[in-house]
Amino acid sequence: MTTSLQRVFSGVQSTGNLHLGNYLGAIVKFVELQKSFECLYCVVDLHAITVPQNPTELRNNTREIAAAFLACGIDPKKNIVFNQSQVPEHAELAWVLNCVARIGWLNRMTQFKDKAGKDRENASVGLLDYPVLMAADILIYRATHVPVGDDQKQHLELARDIAQKFNNDFSESISRNSFGEAFFPLPEPLISGPATRVMSLRDGTKKMSKSDISDYSRINLADDADQIAQKVRKAKTDPEPLPSEEKGLEGRPEADNLVGIFAALSGRTKADILSEFGGTNFSNFKNALVDVAVAKLAPITARMREIRADETYVDTILRDGSERARSIARENMNAVKDIVGFLR
Ligand code: TRP
Repeated sequence: MTTSLQRVFSGVQSTGNLHLGNYLGAIVKFVELQKSFECLYCVVDLHAITVPQNPTELRNNTREIAAAFLACGIDPKKNIVFNQSQVPEHAELAWVLNCVARIGWLNRMTQFKDKAGKDRENASVGLLDYPVLMAADILIYRATHVPVGDDQKQHLELARDIAQKFNNDFSESISRNSFGEAFFPLPEPLISGPATRVMSLRDGTKKMSKSDISDYSRINLADDADQIAQKVRKAKTDPEPLPSEEKGLEGRPEADNLVGIFAALSGRTKADILSEFGGTNFSNFKNALVDVAVAKLAPITARMREIRADETYVDTILRDGSERARSIARENMNAVKDIVGFLR
């Protein structure tokens, strides 16, 4: 059912390992979307350097994320799997969009405020500009659908605002160059994964994050069965037994999170799980959770190891993907040049 009018783009930063939150919040969705859309999945290494990176680790992380995509079931023949820095049109379009986006729009981005912290003057210009590059990632392919975690909603709204302003600012030129009414489609976020918010195992009010200092706060896709078991058994809970109904999870963020993870991994509803475990203590439930987590993740981890054992394999996939991405990007960049008034 692939049509050329609908195109999915998403990106994952090449920083650190992927964890359960990335998997349940985004990658499961990526895998599903390949059935009905033409999809581009990008390891965004240009975004990674908005904060300092060690070059050897950056290369390694780019390969690691690509391997995780493949291990989770993304087919690199059917889709385009690539890394951002091999397609220079991302940065090229970002410059044009920099001249469309307004400084005030970027200053309002909550992710920038969080990441820059108190010392904003000392943040890289790239960190402020991050969402414009993200808009370029999407718009260079004129993508229509973007699966992302809910923390990226604001960036997606900005991408739509930029697309809209470009279409308005250049409306005459767009129609004169026979691109119809509007050149960029307004990309739609697809937020619903099996679990859009997976929280830390140490604190049910904080998101699971690769930047948390405690490795016990998250389950990494590269963790083995023993590590998964240890982390689940140590996960924070409260002293009450599990409730029998979903309403009983209110005000119990840790219990809610663990039941949510169980539901997402097993494809069951929270209500169904509580009807089985309601009234019992956590140790029983945690044992069952370890079983579903290991059953789901162990094959992925094993596949990732296999893929990573042959370093040239991932590099070949990324190179091939980048060439295919580039042929679409180049064509759209040429159109942008015509619209903006650059000679070529
Ligand atoms: N900012 C996204 C994140 O941190 C990663 C990203 C970069 C992205 N470019 C993108 C996601 C384009 C979707 C589309 O999760």
